[in-house]
Formats: sequence, C-alpha cells, structure tokens
Amino acid sequence: MKKKKIKLKKKNVYIFLFIVLVLLVVIFYNPAINIFSLMRKGYTFSESSNLYYNDLAKKALEKDYSNTIAKISGNKEFVNNNFDIYCEIEYYDNKDFLLNVNRLIDKGYNSNDINNINYKNDTDLTDYLVNNYVDNISKWIEYDFFKTENIERYLKNFDGDYKNTIVQVNIGLDKPYYEDVNIIKEYSSTVLANKYNKLDSNFVPDDITLLDKCSEGKAYLSKEAKEAYDNLCMASIDAGLSLSVNSAYRSYEDQQEIYDTYYSLYGQSYVDKYVAIPGYSEHQTGLALDVKSKNSNLFINSKEYSWMLDNAYKYGFVLRYPKDKEDITGYDFEAWHFRYVGVDIAKYIYENNITYDEYYVMFLDIN
Ligand code: DAL
Ligand code: ZN
Repeated sequence: MKKKKIKLKKKNVYIFLFIVLVLLVVIFYNPAINIFSLMRKGYTFSESSNLYYNDLAKKALEKDYSNTIAKISGNKEFVNNNFDIYCEIEYYDNKDFLLNVNRLIDKGYNSNDINNINYKNDTDLTDYLVNNYVDNISKWIEYDFFKTENIERYLKNFDGDYKNTIVQVNIGLDKPYYEDVNIIKEYSSTVLANKYNKLDSNFVPDDITLLDKCSEGKAYLSKEAKEAYDNLCMASIDAGLSLSVNSAYRSYEDQQEIYDTYYSLYGQSYVDKYVAIPGYSEHQTGLALDVKSKNSNLFINSKEYSWMLDNAYKYGFVLRYPKDKEDITGYDFEAWHFRYVGVDIAKYIYENNITYDEYYVMFLDIN
C-alpha cells in the first residue's frame, strides 16, 4: 500500500516536469509572447507581427524602439541585413524613403551620411548619390550654400577645404571670366555685379539721386546708398577729414567710354585688372563710388583712406576690391572703390575679412 503511494507521487512529478517543459517551450517559442514583448516596446500589433514573421523580433527586442523600423517593418523592400543601420536612420515621409536608403547603403554611405543626405531633402542630390559614391559627403553638404548642380565642379576643384571649394565654385572661379555669365534680373541693394554677373545694357537704377555732401560736380547714387553716404560724410567731417567723390553711378555708355579711354592709354592688361567691361561694372548699379581725399593725391596714403577702412562699414559700405583678394574679386586692389551693401552685411564682411563676392554666394545666393 505504501509502495503504491510513492509510485503515484513519482508519476505526478514526471507529469509536473512535463508540463513545466511544455510551458517553457510555449514561453520561448510562442509568437504571441514575442509579439506581446514587441508591443510593450512601443510597436503596434501589425508592426510587431511584421517583425516577428520576418524573423526580426529578436533583433528588435535587443534594441530600443525605432520609429524608422516601425514605419518600414511591413515594407517589401526591407532588407534584414540592414536592420542595424535602419535603426540609426531618421524616418521621413517619402514613398521612396526605403528604396533610397537601401541604395545609399549599397553605395557605401553610413547612417550619418544618409541622415544628412535625407535632411537636405533634395531629390537631385539623392539621385546623384545613389549612383555615385562621394567621399565625405557629409562634409560637403553641411553648408547651406552647397549646390547639387555644382557637385562635379566641387569634386574636380577640391583644394582640401570643403567650404572654400564650394565658395570658389559658386562664385564661378573655376571657369574663365565672362564665360557662363548670369544676366542679372532682379535689382536690389544687394545685387552682385562682377565678372560672372552682368547687368543689362539698358539697366538704370530708378531712384538715382544727386550727391550733395562730400562730393563735387555731378555724382549720383541710388537713394539708399546716397543717404548712407551722407551719414558717412558727416561722420568723416566730424573726424576732421575731407572726403570727396571721383566717380559714382555710371551708365553702360559711361563705362564704355572709360573702358575705351583706359584701354587706349594703358592697354588690355590694365583694363583687365582695373576697369570693368560695360555691363559688368558695379558703378552701373548706383551702389558703388570711388572716393578721394581732398588733402592728398595718393588716396592710399591719406587719413581719409585709413578712416574709410575702419569706419565705412558702420554706414553700410565695404571696400570692394581689397588687397590680396584679387583672385576672388577678379580686380586688383582699389583703395578708393567702396560699395554700399547695408550696415549688417558690411559689418559681417568687415569683421570676417571676406569679399562681397564670398558673402553673396554664402548668404544671398542660396536656393
Ligand atoms: N573699377 C571697377 C572695377 C569698375 O570699373 O567697375
Ligand atoms: Zn570704382
């Protein structure tokens, strides 16, 4: 009797162990448990099911919740091998998101690059990069003034400095002067006229105003520049100086006359360095003027020149063709030629020791 009791108990233990085993199997292999765990992580039921049935539950459970994984989990383009990199990519709503991400991964871009490329939200850029691997792409595209249309020129002219290369190419300096010229269509106080940007021969500013301070004879500037020059003039008088103007607004025809005169006097290389071809002169914008000192024939040696260098920016004027910037401006140093651009821009240019050409492509000519 006693023996039978023990036998029965042993049988119970086996049954108990069997049930435990079955339960363990159920716990570790039951899809419901996995799906439930994924849902606890934040995935919806359908996202969790997709992950589970694509053998990604384990991976997904090992990582933090990923919005990108959630969004693309049911997509037929989902590549399991890309799971880890997907987790590092920020999702954005675009029908080609996953397709482009896969192509960019295939091309060799890392998640940081892909996020930066996506952030640009530039279809032409993405299309170019899925077909071409560009080393250090993130270093190029971090600049707002990076232009996809110039990418091949950036790569061809890369000088080791990403920012500088972009600026130089955007100005046009990788091409000969007067080639690929942009005809200026919109006029404002920030208009850029240089060897790549040309004014129409008929262009005349509509608010051209006679200078009546620190000026002799008839010299004109656009109204805004004239008023700024008045203020500059009064400050220069307060500083005990004697500024005047050699030349301010010049029509296309005036510029032609000046160009022809200097050409016949000094030849081609002189005009190339100091005189703009008609249409390319800032003087035609009504925003530029050549100043002089009434006390000194050599402006560069005058107190007026020193004062202008330190103070013109406060009134919105910049030295347009500085020394050592000839390669950027396309003109030799002109101590006398100042350009009105407004106080904020002039201050930035002064403080950062850059030219207006550089400022323009970095801050004004962005898509
Ligand atoms: N001297 C400047 C470059 C001009 O002719 O406009
Ligand atoms: Zn000038």
